[in-house]
Amino acid sequence: MRILVIGSGAREHAIVVALSRGAAPGDPPGAETPHELHAAPGNPGIGTRATLHDVDPLDPSAVAALAGEIGADLVVVGPEAPLVAGVADAVRDAGIACFGPSAEAAALEGSKAFAKEVMAAAGVPTAMAHVCTTVDEVADALDAFGAPYVVKDDGLAAGKGVVVTSDRDEALTHARTCLERRSGAVVVEEYLDGPEVSLFCLSDGATVVPLAPAQDFKRALDDDEGPNTGGMGAYSPLPWAPADLVDEVVERVAQPTVDEMHRRGTPFAGVLYCGLALTSRGVRVIEFNARFGDPETQVVLPRLATPLADVLLAAATGRLEHVARLRWHDSAAVTVVVAAHGYPGPVRAGDEVEGIDDAEAVPGVHVLQAGTAAADDGGIVSAGGRVLSVVGVGPDVAAARETAYAGVDRIGLRGSHHRGDIAARMPEPVAGTPGTPGTPGAPRSSAGADVEAGI
Ligand code: AMP
Ligand code: GLY
Repeated sequence: MRILVIGSGAREHAIVVALSRGAAPGDPPGAETPHELHAAPGNPGIGTRATLHDVDPLDPSAVAALAGEIGADLVVVGPEAPLVAGVADAVRDAGIACFGPSAEAAALEGSKAFAKEVMAAAGVPTAMAHVCTTVDEVADALDAFGAPYVVKDDGLAAGKGVVVTSDRDEALTHARTCLERRSGAVVVEEYLDGPEVSLFCLSDGATVVPLAPAQDFKRALDDDEGPNTGGMGAYSPLPWAPADLVDEVVERVAQPTVDEMHRRGTPFAGVLYCGLALTSRGVRVIEFNARFGDPETQVVLPRLATPLADVLLAAATGRLEHVARLRWHDSAAVTVVVAAHGYPGPVRAGDEVEGIDDAEAVPGVHVLQAGTAAADDGGIVSAGGRVLSVVGVGPDVAAARETAYAGVDRIGLRGSHHRGDIAARMPEPVAGTPGTPGTPGAPRSSAGADVEAGI
């Protein structure tokens, strides 16, 4: 197949690595690819496996034209902004299969108010919320729910539009800032206690196929201090999660949402990213995204034994129902994000990135690039907030974590920062039948073996 991947982050790099894995399940990254891969705009890391095209990912007709020119069999859209801009619609209108929802369906991520409305119609458990358009309404909603306060920008904000605080003034100030921006609405909601889980559910508009759950570390600093970011690290699987978590989320969250979108005439085909809180009162949706999560994708895809390209094509062409149960490696993965000086605030670009090859010399480590650019001397320099996503794969989370940090130790980037506690502590096991340590929900199998649908 000829596949075009849209985006330029570590998530897209992880997707390209997974797509370039051979048809034999479990081939290591770098095995000869059966597919011809292209990316727009990509990054230097992606460029080692795919042909890069300098096309604006936010321009639907330019992406569709590129897909036509190269004769793509499948286009995979990584980030949310091109989806909301209608890139998937334009590609499909050109008669080319596209993995990614239409602009209308991507509103599940693009508008938190819309997502709440769909969840209410579909009976999906989520936090109680008020959509507010004035500061007075916000003040009333804050007082109705009490502290801690949760205030969310209604529109897209790259994971940074949410403030969770016990300080009422800070909550009001954030709401005021959001209301002054283009979206003009904020969502004030009930605080959800309990560990968070990200579960990616693939859909072709009707059938839902879940991937493995992961946990993301959203705060900038160790011990979950500092501001929210796009994500500073992640791990998968979740040894502490209930064994039936994935089935429950499909049944109570993903399938009803996909059915409701279908009923409305705006079917959701792509990844429904369910951001969940496992509260004492059960699973609640924190948010939906219309795409793979970053950095969770970097730890989910290396564990997938079924070739990714076949599954994404099936989702893009309405054939998910016919896909065999996914197979997973009985392994764990941890990723640590190396961020540029200043992230998540304004960052400094142009610092030399050193040690990628050294890091990848550590068995089990691979380095995914995000905010990088090629330097004139053939090296790599920083060019964004999250610069690298260093991934360690091992037999369990502890081993994968050690491997990931052994890789991070070999990276040099002036002024960079990363969290030192990714996957260091896990939540207490949550009520339900705990999964096996390596692979929740799966029958125990010997390390390194593939397991049927063990996620
Ligand atoms: P979101 O962009 O909606 O995923 O929110 C970003 C982060 O804010 C989440 O990952 C949570 O850590 C936190 N958050 C969002 N909504 C809530 C809530 N209702 N209760 C507690 N924490 C929340
Ligand atoms: N890791 C959070 C996100 O992708 O939105």
